[in-house]
Amino acid sequence: MNLFLSSRSYFKAILAGLFLGIFWIGEALTQDKVLNLYTARHYQTDEAFYTGYTKDTGVKINRIEGGEDALFERIKAEGANSPADVFLTVDVARLWRAEQAGIFAPVKSTTLSKRIPVHYRDTDNKWFGFSARARVLAHDKTRIKSGDLARYEDLANAKWKGEICTRPSSHPYNLSLISSMILHLGEEKATEWARGVVANLARPPRGGDTDQLRAVAAGECAIALSNHYYYVRLMRSQKSEDRAVVQKVGLVWPNQADRGTHVNISGGGMLQHASHRDAAVKFLEYLASDKAQTLFAEGNNEWPTVKGVKLANPELESFGEFKIDSLPLANLGKTQSAAQRIADKVGWK
Ligand SMILES: [Fe+2]
Repeated sequence: MNLFLSSRSYFKAILAGLFLGIFWIGEALTQDKVLNLYTARHYQTDEAFYTGYTKDTGVKINRIEGGEDALFERIKAEGANSPADVFLTVDVARLWRAEQAGIFAPVKSTTLSKRIPVHYRDTDNKWFGFSARARVLAHDKTRIKSGDLARYEDLANAKWKGEICTRPSSHPYNLSLISSMILHLGEEKATEWARGVVANLARPPRGGDTDQLRAVAAGECAIALSNHYYYVRLMRSQKSEDRAVVQKVGLVWPNQADRGTHVNISGGGMLQHASHRDAAVKFLEYLASDKAQTLFAEGNNEWPTVKGVKLANPELESFGEFKIDSLPLANLGKTQSAAQRIADKVGWK
């Protein structure tokens, strides 16, 4: 009897074990069928590449959208409990800050190493740039003649007193530009340059880059710093007032005769506490594919970082080829605090 009972118990235990095993296998199989993505990108066209990834891989994307800084703070606050697998954001300053905070995990991927140029990714492969944006000099075409303005250095020329508009220095776009000036000119000369820019300001820094473009069109200033895609947005806008801005405002690609134009990135990486690691790496690799590169860059009128990828954007194509500053973007992170120090010192608010 006892033997019979214990045999039944054994039988039950084996059955329970089998069920548990099947459950675990099922869990393991479905585990990477989901990807939790935290993204600071919210462009309507991005929808197409999320759908493309799910179609190619069968992995469903749970997407949390938010502001760049809010998402970064959220990932930090969630710590080891964060469900996030991948974080996408803009500007190398933010990627670097995230890397410094220890939120990214290194990714070993020959696809990513082969396809993303070395100056567009972290030296330890903790983040990758998937699209590129140029910081350009917008100007009033009626007031600035070609040759008057050719370099970032020219912004400090006293002849532009009261003529320059820019967003605040605390914004990563400006901090990264100041960082590149530090790396190219040294801290002392970069400080002098920033001092010159501030002395030439038409008004206290305020607003975003589009506000600066509009200010040039309105005659408030003759020159403005802007990322190129804000201008492309106006080029592609159906609104007559936006087209009027483009009519009046031209773009200069700075430093073409020497080091090239400062180009930044939008990109991302896998998170330290990601639980769907295979899906995360596959997603990053997917972002480097020809198909996704076109869509990713198109979402914000940027250039793909992978060489030879087609643009589906006539306005962007109309700019043609230009010389890009080949400074590794990872280096810009290291000089962020020096850039902020310079901005504070010269009163670039
Ligand atoms: Fe932007």
